[in-house]
Parts: sequence; C-alpha cells; structure tokens
Amino acid sequence: MMKILVINGPNLNLLGKREVGTYGAVTLDEINKKLTAQAKKNDVKLEFFQSNHEGEIVEKIQKASGKFQFIIINPAAFTHYSVAIRDAIASIDIPVIEVHLSNICAREDFREKSITAPVCLGQIFGFGPISYQVALEAAIKLLKK
Ligand code: DQA
Repeated sequence: MMKILVINGPNLNLLGKREVGTYGAVTLDEINKKLTAQAKKNDVKLEFFQSNHEGEIVEKIQKASGKFQFIIINPAAFTHYSVAIRDAIASIDIPVIEVHLSNICAREDFREKSITAPVCLGQIFGFGPISYQVALEAAIKLLKK
C-alpha cells in the first residue's frame, strides 16, 4: 500500500487555539482525521509527525527514504529560514508538497519567501485546512498516474 508522510512544524500543535483569526478554529487532530478518511477512500496510508524542533524534522525527512512514496509538509516558521530543512528535502528522492494554511504572500514581508518551496515539487497555500486536502489529492493523483 502507498504511504504518505504528513509533517507539521512548530506551533501547529496549537492549531484551533493559536491566532484563530489567521489559522482558524480547526485543530491539527481534526485536520488529520479528515486526511485519514480521504486517504482510506484511496487505499493510501498516512503517517503524521508534528515537531517544534528543527533537528527532529530533519531526521524524520532523512529516514523517510524507502518508507514513503510522498511527503506533505507544513514547515511553519521554518519555511522562511531553515536551510537545514531545505537541504534535508533536497537530499531525498521522495517528492514533497509544501502546504500552508494562510496566504503567506498576503502577510508580513518575511513570510513571502519560502526557502523550502524551491526544492519541493509544488506549494499549496491560503486555503486553511483545505490546503492539506488539495495537497493529498495531488499526491494521490500523481502516485496513481
Ligand atoms: C504557516 C505560515 C508560517 O508563516 C507560520 O510561521 C506558521 C504557519 C501556515 O500554515 O500558514 O506557523 O506555515
């Protein structure tokens, strides 16, 4: 069975409580439950990983090789400055889709630039939890192609 790894970076464990005006009231658990149902319908298995630590995310990406066919990642704040996560993504041969809940181009200037997106297959942002669902749909369609 095809396996997809879903990685969420720092502070995303606080979704639903954190800056609700920007990120919405839906929790990460609720997002993941919806994704699990979507994956099941398509005979795909998901694994979820959330961490507030850069090194843990780097290690998870490194260890994904050979285990997963796709990665969906919201690197959160690391998007804008983690060369280590960018290099980890570049070091594996698994396709990666970057997602964000908010429209990172419509906020502070420092959020506009993603240093991880150039080493990803593509980027989806601005649709709240739907960003993850669209990313999963894209991954499934690409895998079945
Ligand atoms: C985010 C956008 C980032 O700029 C921010 O640091 C986050 C969340 C998003 O999903 O909209 O923590 O990745």
